[in-house]
Amino acid sequence: MHPNPPTLHSAANLEALRADFPVLHQKVNGHPLVYLDNAATTQKPRAVIESLVHYYEHDNANVHRGIHTLSNRATLSFEAARESVAGYLNAASPEEIIFTRGTTESINLVAQAWGGAFLKPGDVILLTEMEHHSNLVPWQQAAQRTGATLRFIPVDSEGLLDLSQIDTLLTPEVKLLSFTHISNFLGTINPAAELCARARAVGAVSLVDAAQSAGHLTLDVQAIGCDFLAFSGHKMCAPTGIGILFGRASILEQTPPWQGGGEMILSVRYESSTYKPAPSKFEAGTPNIAGAIGLGAALHYIQSIGRPAIQAHDEALAQAAFEGIAALPGYQVLGPRHSRGGLVSFVHESIHPHDLTSFCDQKGLALRGGHHCNQPLMRKLGLSSSSRASFYFYNTTAEVDRMVDILLEANRFFA
Ligand code: ALA
Repeated sequence: MHPNPPTLHSAANLEALRADFPVLHQKVNGHPLVYLDNAATTQKPRAVIESLVHYYEHDNANVHRGIHTLSNRATLSFEAARESVAGYLNAASPEEIIFTRGTTESINLVAQAWGGAFLKPGDVILLTEMEHHSNLVPWQQAAQRTGATLRFIPVDSEGLLDLSQIDTLLTPEVKLLSFTHISNFLGTINPAAELCARARAVGAVSLVDAAQSAGHLTLDVQAIGCDFLAFSGHKMCAPTGIGILFGRASILEQTPPWQGGGEMILSVRYESSTYKPAPSKFEAGTPNIAGAIGLGAALHYIQSIGRPAIQAHDEALAQAAFEGIAALPGYQVLGPRHSRGGLVSFVHESIHPHDLTSFCDQKGLALRGGHHCNQPLMRKLGLSSSSRASFYFYNTTAEVDRMVDILLEANRFFA
């Protein structure tokens, strides 16, 4: 836990928070680092780094199988992390939390294990036009394997989901609705509870890709009413290579195991095996024990700050960035002007996003430039790439101002 939980309202509190992140205090290309690539991955606080060091220095052992003290300690810490995730999401039980490598693996797990068992020719998988490739390609593959087809909820000119045709899209053939909670490209916040309720009304299963929301706002899987929800730890202060899949208990029970191997079995004979219940039946092999422990530490850290404060802070920075960039000559900001998550994508009428993003790097400003794993939507908008600034609770309004100054300087440099 943070020793003295700060709110984000004062500069002093923000400085105290920033002091927890060793990586932020450095110069890049001769300038103080301004790290605005948090949608790609966030930085890690000392509490998380120390939880990894402590685990490896004191408790390192395999989980669930050793009858010795270190193995018991590792198992307790690993399962405590699962309980922390369940509490963080208000899941009904820790057994509804499966540890994975991240959002991508979680969605592939559902597409392969659930999709393999329940999708058949004639079924429809409903997605939106603003999905990250990780919530598109696994469904293309599932459709090819099962004979199901894909359908898409369109994105309107403002960058919002166009729900006017939802009744013609969300028909009884739809077996699954899978959508991003916050677009990693446009920053759009989608109405998760409403979409899940609509899916439920036609008997479809729902999956929420919470990669861009889990670290930024309060998530309650029971209030959202989703069947599945996925997130990645590294976008919320935890290490890379750890994430989760939440699955409602009844749907996990019906879903067959995914990968086979150690840990997920009850009994094995040469010809056949029986499996443990969830979550074990989806966690074959030695898991990322340290990663799970680091994720638990990250969740405690985030909760000690408070998700409402984080959400308000990140969205205020994104709003300030939107207004600041939109006022600059030559720049166009993409996505909705209001009610957006903590990120802003933009393009310049004549500077290529890669050149612009490289120019910013020369000034110590880390942005992301590229297609943001959203190639189909980019193509629909007539773009091949954009630059993106994405914020987290340790970013400051001074950093937003610095970015706007650098973007103005780019206008002069590339003129
Ligand atoms: N999905 C991550 C991003 O949008 C990598 O940057």
